[in-house]
Amino acid sequence: MAPREQWTSKLGFILAAAGSAIGLGAIWKFPYMAGTNGGSIFVLLFIISTIAIGLPILLAEFVIGRMGQADAFTIFQRLGKNKMWPAIAWLGFAFGFIVLSFYSVVGGWILSYLARALTGQLTSQNHGELFSSITSNPIEVLLAQFVFMFLTVWIVQGGIKAGIERASRWMMPLLFIFFIILAIRSLTLEGAMEGVRFLFIPDWSLLTGSTFLLALGQAFFSLSVGVTAMMTYASYLPKDERLGQSAVSVSVLNIFISILAGLVIFPAVFALGGSPAEGPGLIFVILPAIFEQMPFGSIFMILFFILMLFATLTSAIALLEIVISTGIRTRYDRRRRASWVFGTLIFIIGFPSALSFGLMSDVSIFGGTFFDFADLITSRIGMPIGALFISLFAGFVLTNQQTIDELKVHPFIHTTWKFLVRFVVPAAIIVIFAAWIIEISL
Ligand code: PHE
Repeated sequence: MAPREQWTSKLGFILAAAGSAIGLGAIWKFPYMAGTNGGSIFVLLFIISTIAIGLPILLAEFVIGRMGQADAFTIFQRLGKNKMWPAIAWLGFAFGFIVLSFYSVVGGWILSYLARALTGQLTSQNHGELFSSITSNPIEVLLAQFVFMFLTVWIVQGGIKAGIERASRWMMPLLFIFFIILAIRSLTLEGAMEGVRFLFIPDWSLLTGSTFLLALGQAFFSLSVGVTAMMTYASYLPKDERLGQSAVSVSVLNIFISILAGLVIFPAVFALGGSPAEGPGLIFVILPAIFEQMPFGSIFMILFFILMLFATLTSAIALLEIVISTGIRTRYDRRRRASWVFGTLIFIIGFPSALSFGLMSDVSIFGGTFFDFADLITSRIGMPIGALFISLFAGFVLTNQQTIDELKVHPFIHTTWKFLVRFVVPAAIIVIFAAWIIEISL
């Protein structure tokens, strides 16, 4: 039997974990969710959720994963006394499957934009119309989604993951620098301050259970927690890595990139006369418009879409990894075949999401398109449930001695973390979830 892999270096893990976290969640989803849910109040709840709820769970996943040194299913089977625990791994499996089915659609949009940027078709356009015409063209979206899925599977099974790890060393910082430049351009547009106000001055009347659940779901989504992805990554980790530091770095970086994305998008939205509530097309409509306001904009735009594609791919890899690792468990020799089989199935399951902006835009499930529905059941339902049980597992099933040995932090930090995952995190998830259920049933 083929042996299990391990990360080649400490940096490898941080980069992979950060790469898994930072993707469409921070860059694409955060701005559009903030835009459709009241701006600042959403931003505030997102930050609170990330630090008080997401971070302790991220640490829990790191602890469980490294302690278990296996796929999530096997870990829960070994460490959990109750036979129900491995169900968390299946939840993660389903999550990876469904999320990647629409994640790859957005990945496809990036490819479409990149192709147009390369051929100079993104300048002097009505960007709103362009977005609708791209996303409503069934052939283009399916083809682009196919190419994106193909790339993802090819990276995962082709053993070039080490190359990806190495490339993220400079690709991710470069993306960051680009974002800073873009934020400066956006903030210096005339009328930009309205966007800053929208992002940072809370309107408390918009504080509802639903906004809180959306912000919580966003925090989980962009941190990749609750669905055993980070657990799987941590299971490839040698024992000397400091888990606490890694968890804090990933969380802080993630908040930083999300806010930065907001600072790129919203000042420009207000300055250039767009709508913050544009929805999933927000960044695709606004970004090209900002580049138009910059010298050498069309060249920068090409580079930017390449970096964005890279960030999206590193997260897509993580999503596929959840599906494969639980799908094959300890039969490591089936990895390659499983990658292609699952990849194909995910592509097919993604059709309705891909067509949600065109042919199937009238098909409504629970008041939204298929694309919205796939997001609803994963971010708002699946992730909070998975996060709740992972938190309880780390809090009550693992003994204090086990977690102390694994975490190797100051006793005070350990006690605080344990208190959070035992009581605060589960209670917060349940209350927020209940508030949302009550609101939608009224
Ligand atoms: N965090 C990733 C993003 O923001 C999405 C993701 C979620 C990846 C869960 C893996 C697991 O794009």
